[in-house]
Amino acid sequence: MLEALHDPLILIASDRRVTLANLAARGLFGERMTDRDLAATLRNPHLLGAVDAVMAGGASRMVEFTLPVPVERVFEARVKPFRRGGSGGNGSGDGAGGTIIILTLHDITAIKRSEQMRADFVANASHELRTPLATLLGFIETLRGPARDDAEARDRFLGIMHEQSRRMSRLVNDLLSLSKIELDEHTTPTSQADLARIARSAVAALELKAASRKIKLVLDAPASLPLVTGDEDQLTQVLQNLIDNAVKYTRDNTEVRVTLAPVTPASGGRRPAPMVSASVADRGEGIDRTHLPRLTERFYRVDAARSRALGGTGLGLAIVKHIVNRHRGRLTIESEVGVGSTFTVLLPAAVSVDEGAQVPRTAGSAA
Ligand SMILES: Nc1ncnc2c1ncn2[C@@H]1O[C@H](COP(=O)(O)OP(=O)(O)OP(=O)(O)O)[C@@H](O)[C@H]1O
Ligand SMILES: [Mg+2]
Repeated sequence: MLEALHDPLILIASDRRVTLANLAARGLFGERMTDRDLAATLRNPHLLGAVDAVMAGGASRMVEFTLPVPVERVFEARVKPFRRGGSGGNGSGDGAGGTIIILTLHDITAIKRSEQMRADFVANASHELRTPLATLLGFIETLRGPARDDAEARDRFLGIMHEQSRRMSRLVNDLLSLSKIELDEHTTPTSQADLARIARSAVAALELKAASRKIKLVLDAPASLPLVTGDEDQLTQVLQNLIDNAVKYTRDNTEVRVTLAPVTPASGGRRPAPMVSASVADRGEGIDRTHLPRLTERFYRVDAARSRALGGTGLGLAIVKHIVNRHRGRLTIESEVGVGSTFTVLLPAAVSVDEGAQVPRTAGSAA
């Protein structure tokens, strides 16, 4: 019965010898832990101290400890005495009426990690808000004091204050939008959306910004494209964020190309689900591959100072990732330093009986 327990369980005799280790414990520490001093397997001084204290008559206790190998894991260890009354004993050193200790371990790595992430997130968000807030306070003080009668300075300062307040409000909006998306990430959207129309409106919204740096925004879409299963507002956010990044990080006088296409994944035995891809390609400086895995983390920026100067908060791609997850889609990033980057989103096509005909199928993958 103990063997079947999910959590590691270890019984320890009064001489600190391990008398029993269940399957989970042996999986963690190896087969050789039985019949040896616990210290031969678990060297953590807090844990050993707790075992000794309980053995000496102390009350049950709980110790948190970290196992560094093979991957760092955090455990909560419960040390409980089991005092055997009466005669008997098994003649193996615990003596009659001796105490044995029940040590159970519970893996809390995931809880610890999410605690850490939450703490980091609050620290990052506060930091991002504090910077523009400090600027605002500084200017308010200047306007009430030294610059009180300086009309020209007043205009200039108000301009900066306006920009900083907008930045704060953008940040708060992004944070709210991110938490809302996360809340319903497990409910897949059921409505249908027209990606071509969404792309046209996202391109139109950013055309002016692109034109100001002589960047040409090109939309490349086939005459007919299957609808996707998705939330129109959220997909608009995805494309706007990706195009916004491309425009922000590409070079002046270049082209940003948005390409839409139907995709039928190679059939891997099962019937392949038709998808629609939307990719945004720029001719910017690209992203070193070491950054790629972390790019969609909140507040992660390759060059924080530069992103901030461009008005960014580092939440754009985190929002994209969560929306794409909610849609059961995929985000891929290809980038070459000095050449440019391509961000591609794959979304499941909405196929109803008559629309199915619109999706080209590869030979041999007929429905
Ligand atoms: N097309 C791109 N080319 C080069 N780097 C990019 C590109 N898109 C994103 N990045 C890098 O990824 C980082 C994170 O992007 P993200 O969109 O999350 O934040 P941001 O653009 O800095 O700010 P925000 O989108 O919140 O305004 C950026 O700071 C930038 O370093
Ligand atoms: Mg962005």
